[in-house]
Amino acid sequence: MKLVSGTSNKVLAKAIGDHIDAPLTECEIERFADGEIFVRIGENIRGEDIFLIQSTSKPANDHLMELLICMDALARASANRITAVIPYFGYARQDRKTGGRTPITAKLVANLVAEAGAHRVLTLDLHAGQIQGFFDIPTDNLFVTPVFEDDLLRNYDTSELMIVSPDVGGVVRARSLASRLGADIAIVDKRRPKPGQSEVMNIIGDVEGRRCIIFDDIVDSGGTLCNAAAKLKEHGAISVAAYVTHGVLSGKAVERIAKSELSELVMTDSIAVDETVIKAPNIRMISIAPLLGEAIRRIANEESVSKLFD
Ligand code: R5P
Repeated sequence: MKLVSGTSNKVLAKAIGDHIDAPLTECEIERFADGEIFVRIGENIRGEDIFLIQSTSKPANDHLMELLICMDALARASANRITAVIPYFGYARQDRKTGGRTPITAKLVANLVAEAGAHRVLTLDLHAGQIQGFFDIPTDNLFVTPVFEDDLLRNYDTSELMIVSPDVGGVVRARSLASRLGADIAIVDKRRPKPGQSEVMNIIGDVEGRRCIIFDDIVDSGGTLCNAAAKLKEHGAISVAAYVTHGVLSGKAVERIAKSELSELVMTDSIAVDETVIKAPNIRMISIAPLLGEAIRRIANEESVSKLFD
């Protein structure tokens, strides 16, 4: 079994490698003058079971092309099996037609991944569970819930907790975390007047006197979390924190979160972060490397992956 990494999140790839005691296979990734991507695998991988780690995070198009081109190089170098390990699967929010003449990019990207040579996919908290079915190859969608559950148990008295879904689409996710903790759930009635803008209409559930934990898969502009936190406070919550799988954090998100009612934002390292995030006063990171490493080890040894969530 060999690990190969694209350039989107080398720190995470290295941490996964350390966890399962597998060094990263040498892989040269360069750009031609016009931006085209060149890849050369630096060692013999003929007949190997390859795990290629690459999040399709910002810049999404470059990282996606890199993933596809790496797979092409691996397939042409006679890898026996290629698993695309995509900790953050971008383009997933367009998972249905939102109007006439619009695309379904989640399906398009799933097709591209399989077409480029992936035999299987390993990913984490897909934006919607059904995206798993967009891949016509075996796909393991890991859940961050046990990792967040451990952290919450260490940091909170669960009897005070209220797990909050930031929108109706996230209720299943929030319920699964709440039931592991034996906590109640509340739901934010969120509307999007325009893409990139969110408005909180109401809170479903009594949050007065509770410590609220907003659980979401993505924080992008931060609008959803910051608006929900303000409304929860207005409704009497003692404190509001957010646990989010993928820190997309576009534009002024970090600044916005620092000025918000959120006591902290806890997120995984599925997407590489810069210094502003590391220095942010109320953002804390939890590594997903042990979970991904263990799943890779199990896939390589043909063991159950779902056992990780029992
Ligand atoms: C939406 O369905 C997602 O689960 C997130 O709530 C959303 O992508 C967050 O976006 P933003 O941080 O820009 O409000």
